[in-house]
Amino acid sequence: MSMSTPHTIDVVIMAAGKGTRMKSRLPKVLQRLAGVPLVQHVLNTAAQLNARSAVVITGHGADQVEPLVLAPGQLLAVQCVRQEPQLGTGHAVQQAVPVLPDDGVVVVLSGDVPLTQADTLQALIAQCGGNQLALLTIDFADPAGYGRIVRKGEAVQAIVEHKDASDVQRQINEVYSGIMAVPARLLKIWLARLDNQNAQGEYYLTDVVKFAVADGVPVVAHKIADALQVAGINSPVQLAELECAHQHRLAIQFMEQGVRLKDPARFDVRGQLVCAQDVEIDVNCIFEGQVSLCEGVKIGANCIIANCTIAAGAVIHPFTHIDGEKLGVSVGEGARIGPFARLRPGAQLGAEVHIGNFVEVKNSTMAKGAKANHLAYLGDATVGERVNYGAGSITANYDGANKHRTVIEADVHIGSNCVLVAPVTIGAGGTVGGGSTITKSTEPGALSVARGKQISIANWTRPAKKPKA
Ligand code: UD1
Ligand code: MG
Repeated sequence: MSMSTPHTIDVVIMAAGKGTRMKSRLPKVLQRLAGVPLVQHVLNTAAQLNARSAVVITGHGADQVEPLVLAPGQLLAVQCVRQEPQLGTGHAVQQAVPVLPDDGVVVVLSGDVPLTQADTLQALIAQCGGNQLALLTIDFADPAGYGRIVRKGEAVQAIVEHKDASDVQRQINEVYSGIMAVPARLLKIWLARLDNQNAQGEYYLTDVVKFAVADGVPVVAHKIADALQVAGINSPVQLAELECAHQHRLAIQFMEQGVRLKDPARFDVRGQLVCAQDVEIDVNCIFEGQVSLCEGVKIGANCIIANCTIAAGAVIHPFTHIDGEKLGVSVGEGARIGPFARLRPGAQLGAEVHIGNFVEVKNSTMAKGAKANHLAYLGDATVGERVNYGAGSITANYDGANKHRTVIEADVHIGSNCVLVAPVTIGAGGTVGGGSTITKSTEPGALSVARGKQISIANWTRPAKKPKA
C-alpha cells in the first residue's frame, strides 16, 4: 500500500495504571501539564490526527478520569473501557477489542505521555501503511527500564522488556516508546495469543512484535530523536521537568515569531496565547485560557492574564491580575492598566482607559478615556467617555439580594470616597463631591454633594489634662 493512502485511525489510550509515584489522590493522567490534564493532551493530539474514535482504557481512578474524557467538547468520539484488574499493557489493549472496528489502523498511546506531536504520529501511521506493525522508537543513552528493540540486521525481531532482557540485550540503546500503529485486524489476532509467562507476570503488549515476525508481517521502527515527545510522567519531579521543558519550547516559538520575552525561563502559557507583532513581556507572567495580545502590547512583570483580549498599544503594568473567565475581559487600544489592578469577568475597557493601583473592575464597560486611578471598585457599571472616577469610590451594586447597575454618563467627575448606590445614574458632565453617598439619580451638569455639612468652631480650646493632686 502506498505511503499516501489515507487510513482510518482509531486511537487507544492506556490510562488504567496507578501512578503510585505521584503520591497523589488525583489519578496520574489527570495531573496537569501547561494547565491541561495529561490525558487531555493525548486526546487533543488524537483529534489532530482526525482519528475516528478514541478508546480510553481506565482502571485506577476511573471514576475521576471518565467524566473528564467523556465531557462534552471533545473534538473526536471518545469511549471508555474499564480494565480491572490491571494485568499489563497487552491486557489493557485487549479490553478495547470489542469496541474497535476491524477496518482501521490502531494507534496505541499512553495517557501519561502528553507531548507527542501529531506529525510524528502521522509519520508512524505512514510507516504502518495499513498492513505493517510500526513502532515508535528512540535511542537513550540510559535505556534502563525500557523495552529494547532487538533487531536481526535491520529487521526488528522483538521488543524485550528490561526485566526479561539478557545482559547483551541490555546493551541495546534503542527502546520502544510505548507508541505503536497497527492494523486493527492483525492486532486482534495477536492480542488473542498473549500470555503472561515473563519476569513481571504481565500480559505485554510488546509481545505482538514476535507474533508479527512469526506471521511474516513486516515490523518497522520509526525512530525519532526528540525525547520530549515520548517522555512519560511518573513522579512530581518528572512532571515539573516536562512542564519546564515544554514551557521553554513554547517560549522559543514565541520569540521566533518576534515576541520579546525578557526571560524565556520565566514565562508560562497554560492555554492559548496569540501575540501580534512587537509584543513585549517582562518576567514571571502567566497566561491562562484564551489570551490575545495585539500589536505593541507591553506586559509588565508578575502579571497573571487569563481569558482576555488586549488591544494594540495597551500597557499592563506589573502585578496586574486579569481573569475574564467565561465572560472575557477586553482592554482597549492604548489603555494603561495597573500596577496592582484587577480586571474581572465582563470588564470591557475602551481606548485609552486608565486603571490604576488597587482598582477592581467587574462586569462594567468604560468608554474611551475614562479613568479610575486609585483604590476603587466599579461593578455592574456603565461608564461614559472621559469620566474621572475618584480614589476610594465604589459602586454599591449589591443590595443583599440583587445586583443593580450604575450609569455614569460622559464627562462626569466623581470625587474621592464616594458610594454610588445602584441603581443610579449620574447625568452627563455632573460632579459628585468627595465623600458623598449618592442614592438618587442626578441631572446632567449638576453638582451633587451628599454628606454631613462641615461646621467650624472658631478659637476652640482643646481639653487639657488635669494636674496631678
Ligand atoms: C512500557 C513498554 C516498554 C516501553 C515503555 C515506554 C510494555 C510491556 N512495555 O513499559 O517496552 O519501553 O512502556 O514507556 O508495554 N497501563 C494500563 N494497564 C496496565 C498496565 C499499564 O493501562 O495493566 C498503562 C499505564 O497506566 C501507562 C501505560 O499503560 O499509561 C504504560 O504502562 P507502564 O507500566 O508505564 O509500562 P512500562 O512497564 O513502563
Ligand atoms: Mg510497568
